[in-house]
Amino acid sequence: MTLLGIDLGTTAVKALLINEAGETLASATVEYPLSTPRPLWSEQDPADWWRGTIEAIRQVLTKAGASGADVRGIGLSGQMHGLTLLDRAGNVLRPAILWNDQRTAAQCEEMMRRAGSPARMRELIANIPNPSYTAPKILWVRENEPHTYERIAHILLPKDYIRYKLSGEFATEVGDATGMALLDVRRRTWSDEMLGLLDIPREWLPLCAESHVPTARVSQAAAQETGLAAGTPIVGGSGDQPAAAVGLGSVREGIVNVTLGTSGVVFASIEHYPPMRDTAIEVFCHAVPETWFFMGVMLSAGGSLRWHRDVVASGHPNLVSTAGNNDAYDVLLADAATIPIGAEGLAFLPYLTGERTPHRDPLARGAFVGLTLRHTQAHLARAVVEGISFGLRDSIELMRELGLHVNEVRAAGGGARSAIWRQMLADIFEADIALVNSTEGGAFGVALLAGVGIGLWRDTREACDAVIRVTARTSPSSDPAVRRQYAEAYARFRDLYPALKPTFARLGK
Ligand code: XUL
Repeated sequence: MTLLGIDLGTTAVKALLINEAGETLASATVEYPLSTPRPLWSEQDPADWWRGTIEAIRQVLTKAGASGADVRGIGLSGQMHGLTLLDRAGNVLRPAILWNDQRTAAQCEEMMRRAGSPARMRELIANIPNPSYTAPKILWVRENEPHTYERIAHILLPKDYIRYKLSGEFATEVGDATGMALLDVRRRTWSDEMLGLLDIPREWLPLCAESHVPTARVSQAAAQETGLAAGTPIVGGSGDQPAAAVGLGSVREGIVNVTLGTSGVVFASIEHYPPMRDTAIEVFCHAVPETWFFMGVMLSAGGSLRWHRDVVASGHPNLVSTAGNNDAYDVLLADAATIPIGAEGLAFLPYLTGERTPHRDPLARGAFVGLTLRHTQAHLARAVVEGISFGLRDSIELMRELGLHVNEVRAAGGGARSAIWRQMLADIFEADIALVNSTEGGAFGVALLAGVGIGLWRDTREACDAVIRVTARTSPSSDPAVRRQYAEAYARFRDLYPALKPTFARLGK
């Protein structure tokens, strides 16, 4: 028997088959395009998602030599927040508006106006709306495309459109639903009050379940298209961030996970609904019942190092060609390790694409501060990696202020492969950095949720305990000088954003 996890990403869909020991049998990835019809817009055609999903499912079954009947449960994950609109007959009304679309600043303000105050907004939906979220996109369609708005009968998130195509059912789950900005996150149910304030009919929204709960079954029609067996249960699943956290076993308070991809995400499970404060940390329902998570998002983490590789280090003597060369990261990190902590007074701010956490500031910019004639390529590399790591620590500090106790940080994403970077994170976070045996991300997490849904494991924590193991651990240095030097460098880093904020605002005009 096998479990199927599907992760509908922004560039591609991935299908993953695992067995009941959590071992990967096969995976398949199919890409699709993204369109930017105007500056700041980001859209995709849901038909491309479905075509890609059919192809990925067919490929993964073939690669594993499995039949549709071998698949006992399906979990869905994917890019969060995207708005997919259907009419009464289930036809898509316009291209989906994605999480990274930036057109809705005015609608976010309108939501704040209707809620009355930030405190009231947090009471209603836990978070302050940003242009990623779904609700402001709905308001945008109402204002700008009234003919489309009139025909709306169903609103779905990207992965839930795939559920609809697989089963004919309209359903979502609490994690992704949080990112719509229409969920009462504390009670884990749609917020009638928020819907009323925005004048959005509740009947447009799908059923909202917990993540492990089966909410649909594969239809005859979808069975024919995909090769799956009709009747196979599909569990709620979750958005890509909580799904990836399940895949790392980040399902208990005290375990934090940090993903070093283009963006850097700090994610922490919490077992009690947190006090509401004015903070840039987001609060979502986790894929585990009665559990929530804190999330901090750095927009350019690995993205800053990639920029450094491609732009700053392009004349590096040990690198034939740096652009597009992944081995170059190892050379740059090895260089960085030869330089003292604090890069001899050089600091880097990683806000190359603005920032989301800890500074909710689209106008924030990157900077090297403290350059002298003494500084070399290697100093610049060290400053960049330290700056990214300090920015991530900012999120951890905000979570500590909200009462989080950090026992262990599980690292994932491309950057986590570097032992040098992991040591730096351990020293800067003052916490153990662990690697785990699973590296398949969100698709793996929702395949585990599917196993819980069909009764293979009692609950999600038991599933994670059964299949996820820590494979490497890096502890903070025991040398008090290391601690002191990082503390000094971090304090210098913290001073820079407030000092430069007025300059960034002027530059942004
Ligand atoms: C989460 C978020 C991203 C998207 C795309 O809030 O914006 O994780 O889901 O990956």
